[in-house]
Amino acid sequence: MDWGMSNRMSRMIKPESGHSVMLACDHGYFMGPTRKLEDPHKTIEPLVPYADTLAVTRGVLRNSVDPKWDVPILLRVSGGVSILKDDLSDEEITTSIKEAVRLNAAAAAISIFVGTAHEKQSLVNLARLVDEGEEYGMPIMAITAVGKELEKRDAKYLALACRIGAELGARIVKTYYCDNFSKVVEGSPVPLVVAGGPKMDTEEDVFQLVYSAMEAGAIGVDMGRNIWKNDYPVAMIKGIRAIVHEGATVKEALQIYRENKGTH
Ligand code: 5RP
Repeated sequence: MDWGMSNRMSRMIKPESGHSVMLACDHGYFMGPTRKLEDPHKTIEPLVPYADTLAVTRGVLRNSVDPKWDVPILLRVSGGVSILKDDLSDEEITTSIKEAVRLNAAAAAISIFVGTAHEKQSLVNLARLVDEGEEYGMPIMAITAVGKELEKRDAKYLALACRIGAELGARIVKTYYCDNFSKVVEGSPVPLVVAGGPKMDTEEDVFQLVYSAMEAGAIGVDMGRNIWKNDYPVAMIKGIRAIVHEGATVKEALQIYRENKGTH
C-alpha cells in the first residue's frame, strides 16, 4: 500500500487495536433534516472526541464541522435520490476525488445496490471511484445499501454484496450485522464495519449488535442513529468504544452508559 493510502487507513482504523468507531452523520443526503440531525454541528460536536472517524457529506463538512476538530473525515460521495422515491438505488457519484483531497478527507464512501434495478450503475460508479481514489492514495469505502428493503439483510446477500465491493477495489466495506455474520466476514478480503440501522428499542440491543459483530470479525462500526438518536449520545458512544477498542462485554458497556448518562 502506498504511504498516503496507508496513512489515511491508519488514521481511521486505530493501529493500537486495529479497530474503529466511525460516527455516521451523512443521512441528510437523502433523508433531509432527519430527527436529531437537524443541526449537524450541535449533534456532532460533543461526540467528536469519541469518534475515530466522522462520516459526512461535503455540505455538512463545510457548514457544520469545525476545521480545527482533530477527526479524520469519511466523505460520502454518492447520492442523487431522496427518501421520497421508492427506489433509492439510482445513485451517481456526487463529489469528485479531487474535491475529497481538497477537503483533506481520509477516505471516500459510496453506496452499492446489489440486486437492484441500478445494480450495474452503482457497481460501475464504485469501480470508477476506486480508479480515481487509487490515483490519489484515497481509500474508498463501499456501503452495501439496501434502500428501504431492510429484510434483505441476511448473510447470503450481505456476503455477496461485501465480496463484490471488495473485488471492485474498495479498501473497506460498510455493511449490516446479521445472523451468521462470520460468513460475511470470511468472504471478504477487506475489513468490514457495521452500520446500526434504524434506532433500536434498547441500549442493550445496540451493545449486543456491536459485541456480536466484533466477535464475528468486524473491525468496528460506522454507526449513526443508534448513537445520536439516543437521549444520551455521549454515554452511548463511550459504551460502544469500550466494546470496539477494549473488548468490553455488553454488561460492561451498559454500566459505562449508565455512569455517563449525565455527561450530555
Ligand atoms: C446513510 C448511511 C449511514 O451512514 C449508515 O446507514 C450508518 O448509519 P446508521 O447507523 O444510522 O444506519 O449510509 O445512508
